[in-house]
Amino acid sequence: MNNAPIGVFDSGVGGLTVAGEIMRQLPDESIVYFGDTARVPYGSKSKDTIITFSRQIVRFLKTKEVKAIVIACNTASAYALETIAKEVDIPVIGVIEPGAVTAGEATANGRIGVIATEGTISSGTYETVLKRINPSLQVFSKACPLFVPLVEEGLLYDPVTLEIADRYLYDLMSYDIDTLVLGCTHYPLIRRTIRKVVGDGITLVNPAYETAKALEKVLERGNILADGKGSLGNREVTHRFYVSDSAERFGKLARTILSRGIESVECVNIEQYTNNINYDTEGCSDEK
Ligand code: DGL
Repeated sequence: MNNAPIGVFDSGVGGLTVAGEIMRQLPDESIVYFGDTARVPYGSKSKDTIITFSRQIVRFLKTKEVKAIVIACNTASAYALETIAKEVDIPVIGVIEPGAVTAGEATANGRIGVIATEGTISSGTYETVLKRINPSLQVFSKACPLFVPLVEEGLLYDPVTLEIADRYLYDLMSYDIDTLVLGCTHYPLIRRTIRKVVGDGITLVNPAYETAKALEKVLERGNILADGKGSLGNREVTHRFYVSDSAERFGKLARTILSRGIESVECVNIEQYTNNINYDTEGCSDEK
């Protein structure tokens, strides 16, 4: 059981920022990653839709016999974490609580900015969690919906991304914030561009670091930390990647983001993971 993989999912490549941090902090853990590339972005979809998508992905991950699940997506953490955590018999964690805790510790003046998808911002989850940590914190939020498609297009350092970041962040800068939460797992991938716009005086919070820490605690508590060894005592840590569309394209971007080789990316017809467990093993097609 201990060497069973961790299931990690997101709407696309954003969750790789969390998966990469898990690989770094917990090198003995194997990962099964799912990126819902056919249905990205999640940020503009309704709560019900995100719960439906998350349930399908969790059913898929369970067929891979994962021992815990990390919802490496703020939107799905805001909308579906509570529901999913009640429905499954393995530990499930999201990224919002760890990100909020880090921000609460990082701020000196108590003024925190949060940038995220429309869904995450309108759910008010960051604000709720930050106020629970410290009721005197002031939170200033801004939805940045174009960031996700820019990242999925691989335009991480493009002038167009800088121009859009400038427009989104200009107003937020007038609130005298000293800490800015990158409240969408795609955003750390453009942090250099964000840094250019906000300057050096603001702490950028990437929830991935604390999420990996939180995962470690959960695994420790459940006594399910991996030792990374196979039955013969040999090292056996494997990371597998699945998407709902365009495996090749995902693979290219994932290799750049993780700065490591990825053996294969498989395409899965995720919508068939709807109710029962008689799944047809046929994947989806990469053909255009
Ligand atoms: N990366 C996800 C998040 O953290 C989803 C972004 C999207 O698909 O809109 O919110």
